[in-house]
Amino acid sequence: MEKRSLRSAAVRGRRVLVRLDLNVPLTEHGLVADDRRIVETLPTLQHLQTSMARTIVLSHLGRPEGKRDMRYSLRPVARRLSELLGQPVPVASDCVGIAAINAVSGLKNGEFVMLENLRFHPGEEANDPAFVAQLSQLGESFVEDAFGALHRAHASTVGLPHRLPSCVGFLVEKEVRELSHLRDQVDRPYVALLGGAKVTDKLPLLASFLGKADVLLIGGALAFPFLRARGATLGASPREPGLESAVTEFLTAAQSTGTEVILPEDVVLLAPGSPDPVVAPVREVPDAGAVFDIGPATRAKFAEVLARSHTVFWNGPLGKAEDPRFAEGTRAVLASLGSVAGYHVSAGGDSARIAQDLGVSGAFQYSSTGGGAALEFVEGHELPGLAAIPDA
Ligand code: 3PG
Repeated sequence: MEKRSLRSAAVRGRRVLVRLDLNVPLTEHGLVADDRRIVETLPTLQHLQTSMARTIVLSHLGRPEGKRDMRYSLRPVARRLSELLGQPVPVASDCVGIAAINAVSGLKNGEFVMLENLRFHPGEEANDPAFVAQLSQLGESFVEDAFGALHRAHASTVGLPHRLPSCVGFLVEKEVRELSHLRDQVDRPYVALLGGAKVTDKLPLLASFLGKADVLLIGGALAFPFLRARGATLGASPREPGLESAVTEFLTAAQSTGTEVILPEDVVLLAPGSPDPVVAPVREVPDAGAVFDIGPATRAKFAEVLARSHTVFWNGPLGKAEDPRFAEGTRAVLASLGSVAGYHVSAGGDSARIAQDLGVSGAFQYSSTGGGAALEFVEGHELPGLAAIPDA
């Protein structure tokens, strides 16, 4: 369903609240480590700039849990955005209250202000009506362009569009258009390649791939609970407790759908006292050993499956890819994908950066800025932040 678009919204001279997902990684010195999510918002912001809107940028950064924690300040993000726009982007010290009201009332046509991290207030994640009311009085209309946060039913993603005339921005339009290739009429075989470390977050989402994807290839720490359920001990590798029943349910459900689930056969591990990685079958990890990557037999198996695919969705590295000793699994599998014809999507801020750092970003026709949001969208879930915007 088409959503109301910024293209046809009247914004000249109006105070426009724009929700962006500027949740980017920062360096230990507080600089933006990867500005892709910022760059991807430029078409919307430049449109607002040239249309002479008074633009008020809203975003979250990290998970400060409702407290004002300056490690999660949006100031470094505003500096980078200002460089990219070639125009000042001052930051109001709070997203509601007197600081925000003053910052907004001084805005002129074509100018920007960014309000400090929405998640400094518990009302954001709770979608608290009083917090929504405070935010909504700052603007006259609302543009939703935070694709990566559309799966969250928060004050800024769901509360605001229910109170103000609303539309989607150009990034949300692009993401929906591209990711729909994996949702509506998928060119099969369709393979989901999933890894990463947010096991508790991702586990409930995996089940939605059953019956949709033809094959699920699972690597990274995400594979650990499944391998354990099949009898591997995995030595001293990290263990997230309480996942056993979800894993058993998933593996049982997988048997009754047409989706094949393929787990690693071998792994790269570190044994205690040795800095040098060794390869072992998954059932032969020594008690004190810790697993950090998929092994060569698994790489070959994953590459073989991908070679037969027509559509691929990738989220999350297959090992600890930021460490060169454990990057080969992810690199080799993605490099093999580079020579396969088809439509390949990478999802998640980290995934795109890892592919770029490993020199294999050419394997993908599209890189989504969304992680959890992209995953939920391609699985066919309704995204609350998208549902809240009126249809065109
Ligand atoms: C993301 O990075 O996936 C989005 O910014 C959402 O962040 P969250 O998982 O903390 O809600």
